[in-house]
Amino acid sequence: MLRIAVKAEISYDVIVGCDWQESLREISRAHKKILLVAPASIVELGKLDVLLDSSQHSLFVTPDAEEQKDVATLERIWSTLGSLEFGRTDAIVAIGGGATTDLAGFAAATWLRGIAWYAIPTTLAGMVDASVGGKTGINTQAGKNLVGSFYSPTSVFIDTAWLATLSDRDFSAGLAEVIKTGFIRDTSILDDLELAGDISGARLISETLIAKSVTVKADVVSSDFKEGKLREILNFGHTLGHAIEKSAGYSLRHGEAVAVGLHFASLLSEELLHLQSDSTERLKNLLERFSLPTTVTSGQYQWDELYQSMAGDKKSRDGRIRFIGLRAPGEPDWIETASADQLLKSYERIVK
Ligand SMILES: NC(=O)c1ccc[n+]([C@@H]2O[C@H](COP(=O)([O-])OP(=O)(O)OC[C@H]3O[C@@H](n4cnc5c(N)ncnc54)[C@H](O)[C@@H]3O)[C@@H](O)[C@H]2O)c1
Repeated sequence: MLRIAVKAEISYDVIVGCDWQESLREISRAHKKILLVAPASIVELGKLDVLLDSSQHSLFVTPDAEEQKDVATLERIWSTLGSLEFGRTDAIVAIGGGATTDLAGFAAATWLRGIAWYAIPTTLAGMVDASVGGKTGINTQAGKNLVGSFYSPTSVFIDTAWLATLSDRDFSAGLAEVIKTGFIRDTSILDDLELAGDISGARLISETLIAKSVTVKADVVSSDFKEGKLREILNFGHTLGHAIEKSAGYSLRHGEAVAVGLHFASLLSEELLHLQSDSTERLKNLLERFSLPTTVTSGQYQWDELYQSMAGDKKSRDGRIRFIGLRAPGEPDWIETASADQLLKSYERIVK
């Protein structure tokens, strides 16, 4: 078991390699009332039933995936907290993927102006990314994740046993963030993945991959909790990735859209940061080895629409689209001056 410390508005630990049932017992000793928030896909696994004590625990079952990250579900959580007479010493426990931890964390941030919450992530994306760093939020008509709060959990408990039921598609989507982490900071992750070879091999070393990825995220977030500048390196691949997600009507997994965005950002880095082309090849090969997309088909997306989305992204400043690029693997840098022509040129290289 590994404890990784995060310093944010509070200090907390991410515990990698724990037994989540034991963790829930530990949480239950610290609070009188607990609301467990989990999607139907987790509840249906039947693992929660035996642990629930009706006098202390209540269960809120969310819709699946992105559907749960809306104001209607949030309002239903608030109503449940109200009818349970939740006070400041009670707690919310999120058991699910990134969509669930984002939603439940935001519910905790807003109830009574903030009550304790814990994350028990059940997807690879949730373990390596969404549950660590304190970003919580929902989607609205205005866009994805535009309404939210920086509000850290009291602890994050990672039990890799959850991954056994996770589909290969969702496992791979989580690997996109792991690969990103390898390219922005800890390049030993890239060696690990190359050695692992394929999805089954990566599943065997998931605890190592999670420990290394969380260590990087914890380090970056601890230096820059509210995304002043350094934390932006975690957005490598995300500027185009978010635009693709939106244009695809959120039908792609977040990690799949990020995979295409990573390839694009790497090509842009060749142009503007003198990244060697063999690094882009390495990135592309790794993504493809884990069944992640690296290209789009002609006509699949409208460049003008993607460009407008990128310009409206919350990370753009004064109308300039900002990207995180690479000078070399492990050496990220900011791209703030890319011209529209340079962006289009890199985009055309990913159109097949
Ligand atoms: N807060 C952050 O810093 C941050 C970072 C990255 C991503 N995110 C958010 O996280 C979400 C993506 O994360 P995700 O991929 O975990 O999405 P998700 O929560 O939608 O989970 C993906 C799918 O896996 C299913 N699932 C979850 N655990 C399972 C298990 N153990 N076995 C079988 N099926 C299981 C879910 O029901 C869902 O259908 C997005 O909403 C994204 O915006 C947040």
